[in-house]
Amino acid sequence: PAIEFGLEAPYEIEYHNSVGSTNQRARELATEGAENVVVVADEQTGGRGRLEREWASPSGGIWLSLLLRPTLPTTHAPLVTMAAAVATAEAVGSAGVEPTIKWPNDVLVDGKKVSGILTEMEGEADSISWLVVGIGINANVDADALPEDRATSLQALCGEVERRAVVQTLLESMADLLDDRDKILPEWRARSGTLGRRVSVDTPDGPVVGEAVDIESPGALLVDTENGRRRVTVGDCEHLRP
Ligand code: BTN
Repeated sequence: PAIEFGLEAPYEIEYHNSVGSTNQRARELATEGAENVVVVADEQTGGRGRLEREWASPSGGIWLSLLLRPTLPTTHAPLVTMAAAVATAEAVGSAGVEPTIKWPNDVLVDGKKVSGILTEMEGEADSISWLVVGIGINANVDADALPEDRATSLQALCGEVERRAVVQTLLESMADLLDDRDKILPEWRARSGTLGRRVSVDTPDGPVVGEAVDIESPGALLVDTENGRRRVTVGDCEHLRP
């Protein structure tokens, strides 16, 4: 089934029944000079995840990419991704579950991943030319069809959801947060499942283990380790048992 039409958002919307990757399609639109476009698909045949992983995107999910041209230095791009995580958590929550955000931008329910975000961009150091935020929500998909054992779907958690309403909430929340960027980190903190936890973050400089104490603009995680405080900007975070 096609993703339900009729969204109203401050973005132009391009719907697909099936597409390789909404991020790839949004990148093409970026090279054509477009902005404020959302590409949304029912199914992706070549969905992409972080760290060069594949992202399973069967029919029934919410697979979308926002093409934006924010006036921000490239170093601040993580802030947009954090906003997307907050907006996604809000949207998923509106479906009747209680999500938390795992740093930097996975949305979990009961410790299992229901959504992931992949941001791609181009620009000079002092300004972003375009930025594509790709958001995948395992909505009306069979959790058994998902490869990760630590993944789940809204359908498995609370039954079938109305995707149009979820996407509508997501886009409205995203537009609000981008209008008032000072709200992004406080909202992220309020929804975080990572802060206050013992974590192990797999970073390019090796693992960082300790208590996650705060988040710092534009999106770094502060971890108190045995050897003092570390500021982590990239990595895969795992929540450890207390
Ligand atoms: C992750 O690894 O957690 C990020 C997953 C991002 C998946 C979304 S689905 C819509 C958009 N298009 C893609 O090809 N990837 C992103």
